[in-house]
Amino acid sequence: MGEDPLVQAAYRLCRRTTRAHDPAVHALVQLMPAALRPACWALWAAANTLDDLADRPGVEPARRAADVAAWTKALEHDLSVGTSTDPVRHALVDAAARWRLDLSGLRGAMATTRDDAHGLRFTDWAQWRAWCNREVVPWVDQVRQLFDQAGAPMTLRLDRQADYRHFVDGAQLTDLLTDLGTDLAQGHLLLPRDAMEPFPGAEEDLIRGRWSPAVAALVADLTALARRWLTRPALTRGMHPGPATVLDTAAVLMRLQLDAIDAAGPTLLARPPRPSVVARARVLLPARLRSALVWGLSPLTAPGVRLPAAVKASEPGPAADDTALRPPPPHRDGARPPRIATDKMPNHVAVIMDGNGRWAQQLGLPRQEGHRAGAAAAHDVVYGALEIGLRHLTLYAFSTENWKRDTDEVVTIFEAVRRELDEGPLHDLDVRQRWSGRPDRLPQDLVDAIRREEHRTRDRTGLTLTICLDYGGRDEIARTAAALAQAARDGDVDPDLIGPDDFARHLPHPDMPDVDLLWRTGDEQRTSNFLPWHAAYAELYFTPDHWPDVDRRDLWRAITEYGRRQRRYGAAPSLPPTAAAVRDRRADCR
Ligand code: IPE
Ligand code: IPE
Ligand code: MG
Repeated sequence: MGEDPLVQAAYRLCRRTTRAHDPAVHALVQLMPAALRPACWALWAAANTLDDLADRPGVEPARRAADVAAWTKALEHDLSVGTSTDPVRHALVDAAARWRLDLSGLRGAMATTRDDAHGLRFTDWAQWRAWCNREVVPWVDQVRQLFDQAGAPMTLRLDRQADYRHFVDGAQLTDLLTDLGTDLAQGHLLLPRDAMEPFPGAEEDLIRGRWSPAVAALVADLTALARRWLTRPALTRGMHPGPATVLDTAAVLMRLQLDAIDAAGPTLLARPPRPSVVARARVLLPARLRSALVWGLSPLTAPGVRLPAAVKASEPGPAADDTALRPPPPHRDGARPPRIATDKMPNHVAVIMDGNGRWAQQLGLPRQEGHRAGAAAAHDVVYGALEIGLRHLTLYAFSTENWKRDTDEVVTIFEAVRRELDEGPLHDLDVRQRWSGRPDRLPQDLVDAIRREEHRTRDRTGLTLTICLDYGGRDEIARTAAALAQAARDGDVDPDLIGPDDFARHLPHPDMPDVDLLWRTGDEQRTSNFLPWHAAYAELYFTPDHWPDVDRRDLWRAITEYGRRQRRYGAAPSLPPTAAAVRDRRADCR
């Protein structure tokens, strides 16, 4: 905590607010190292202040919304000057500067809280979850950022994102059930209609504050659902033990809370149920011992320089390190990209970079040399993608089938990727890097470096470059099917209604657009398990050159060729034949 007595008083106030309003959260914060706790209290107190402003009973909704907006605006101002007259904002401003937190991610959440002042109803879980993602998740993400900044990253394995989302949903549902009575007293019923429908009369009973068999059955159903969402045994596997202890303990505490909700009966509508002190102590005492041990073994690395007023809510945080973005270096012969009409420009080009081995063998070199030369070709193609203004480029670097190769060759490929991540020339370009594939068989340090680069480049807007590593299309489809099956089991999707959009939403990268152009070098005409879902309607383009012989001009040629294709998606050709074509056809018939 800072030496400034005003800051200390501000943090103390935030701590008292957290303890009084949510003892479980307070207990979880106590499992963190002392240096991190004040920032958590500040975040929690800020979220709570905004909720209170949005929910004040007896105040007009417009007035409440205006107060939330004014608080948010004042925070922006306070962040720009590095201090505040309001104690909660003062603590938050100090925490942001001390830990270099990028608070811009909270803007959406604050705007949602402002809009909530006008009342909320949800039709289904999807709507409820979208609200939760907008309003709650950004606050949780601040805590993740805090752990990152402290050198104890809450890194999730790439294939655990869905677990994390369910976990957050489970926590949110537990909170909602805990506060059911308080919310109802204020006229809020935040359960989706779809969830209440199977229990006829429950919605009306709840609105009237009446405990009935239908309400009891609904609550039992929802506590069971929250338990399923919270039970994610693999969530913290491989994670830094500090944040892992916090998350694991949170799960146990929330299950205790759900037990208390189940046991509350009609009193659930009168006051928030709490687990017994003894039950909580049984969970918290060993957790405190464990966290003291793990934090003792892996101390924090606080960010060195303090940035007093520099951390503004309107600027990306330093983790997103975009201070010195540079343009791509020009082509060695000065070649410039062709002008492509907007409607002829693909949005997403995916490349099977094939022929490294044969290129090396032709020169009498070991295959490994081909992979090294291939990296240079990939750089040039990325430069070309930036120059021509391509939005998405996806490169196939290692397939799930490539494990069949010699260990030496596999190691060379991974080393090349590792070098790329640590010191590659793409570092300072306007490229958002992402990775697709199985994380569980790759070396852990490679996965860590991948996550680091994804995080560092996350706010870049130029080109999204996805590298497919230990990627297999069938593996992706199988994992997506598993996620969908889990979602069906959790009641998130109805198996009878599953369509392509539901499938797409459960892909590991649901926001990856369809591939417009799939280009393979190396004189082979097959797709080798690459992006079968996304490339279902891609234009295919095969070229004879080995990948190390390729440069950005080949990408431009590929894009130019794409512009000549007519994409019909199953429709009949739309253009009427030209007069000349009709004349030619007549001449042919004679
Ligand atoms: C593509 O080149 C790169 C990877 C598969 C990693 P290859 O290594 O497949 O080269 P060829 O096809 O054997 O020439
Ligand atoms: C596809 O190339 C995989 C990558 C380019 C990473 P391969 O060389 O492995 O494909 P096949 O074996 O020719 O189908
Ligand atoms: Mg090959």
